[in-house]
Amino acid sequence: MSITENTNKDMIGRDDINDVEAILSITNHDVDAVSHIVKNNADSLFTWDYSLARPQLRKLYEKAKTGQWNGTTDLPWDTEVDNEKQIAYDQQMLGAGLDPTLYSETPLAKWGDKEWIEFGIEGRRWQLSQFLHGEQGALLCTAKITETVPWYDAKLYASTQVVDEARHVEVFARYLEEKMGGEYQINAHLRLLLDDIINDSRWDMTYLGMQIMVEGLALAAFGFLHQLTNEPLLRQLLRYVMSDEARHVAFGVLSLQEAYTQMSDAEIKERQEFAFEASVRMRDRFLQQEVWDRMGIDTRVMAPLILHDPQRQLFQQMLFSKIVPNCKKLGLLDRNDKWLRRRFEELGVIQFEDWVDTGEEYANFELGKDIDPAAHA
Ligand SMILES: [Fe+2]
Ligand SMILES: [Fe+2]
Repeated sequence: MSITENTNKDMIGRDDINDVEAILSITNHDVDAVSHIVKNNADSLFTWDYSLARPQLRKLYEKAKTGQWNGTTDLPWDTEVDNEKQIAYDQQMLGAGLDPTLYSETPLAKWGDKEWIEFGIEGRRWQLSQFLHGEQGALLCTAKITETVPWYDAKLYASTQVVDEARHVEVFARYLEEKMGGEYQINAHLRLLLDDIINDSRWDMTYLGMQIMVEGLALAAFGFLHQLTNEPLLRQLLRYVMSDEARHVAFGVLSLQEAYTQMSDAEIKERQEFAFEASVRMRDRFLQQEVWDRMGIDTRVMAPLILHDPQRQLFQQMLFSKIVPNCKKLGLLDRNDKWLRRRFEELGVIQFEDWVDTGEEYANFELGKDIDPAAHA
């Protein structure tokens, strides 16, 4: 099998990764639909080998069984959340995530406190909504892995992740409904990525797309928000979800490590390209086009500025702090003449390559442990 050189256009549908027109041309056309159908092209697999062949996965399975929690009774749902006060506090800690001096030629120049707070609230609601939809993606993907993975130990573990993800969908949906007045629709770039993951017939691609890329990003994003906010319900919710999420990413790392050692360069190249595609889709979604629409501002005016806003770049880079070391551990960075390393350099995220990988650090996230980032960065 020869290695094909796919262009950016083949992989992500555009030549220039910063082509704003192309990024914004991807939108949802069925905004009022209540369901969305994706073809799942994979085979379901029985295994008759019930022996303990992968002790690391079995250990993870045992941890999952004792790490369960109840979204209904373990979280302080009676907490009163005043979004205006809360966002004002959180913005004091970190600003609005944009460098206001860069936007003097845009409608933002006229924004007062009221607009910045409103932007902050909509941004929070949008972010939690994307977490919610991503969690449902994880629910479907993990049910799929339970069926498609050929290994008994992995089927057992994946079944526990299905329950975990149901709980995550439950708590994010409830938070949005009760505390923030309902959710935003799924971002079109996130949906495209989730569709691609579910569409793919190869069982290891579900892991790569979900456990390594989507959940790797989620683990970093949850950690960031947990550190930033002092809203007690949200903090506890995120802390509980992170305790599960670290295990999920570890499940991906441990499983794919074994699968990838047996793959040819051509097969690995396809995985590298998929990791790149997923990275670009996740980055595109952070333009938050739905929030700008809500604020009555044309995203086309904002997007080129946001793409070059150092504050925003810093935030986006941090979101790759789990993905890059995990890809390194899987050998994806340097195979095929360092193909993925070069792509991560282009995206400005390669600096995380030697941070601790989640296969090693997942136990640090167990409930009851201090997750001060300094302890495991
Ligand atoms: Fe989750
Ligand atoms: Fe997860």
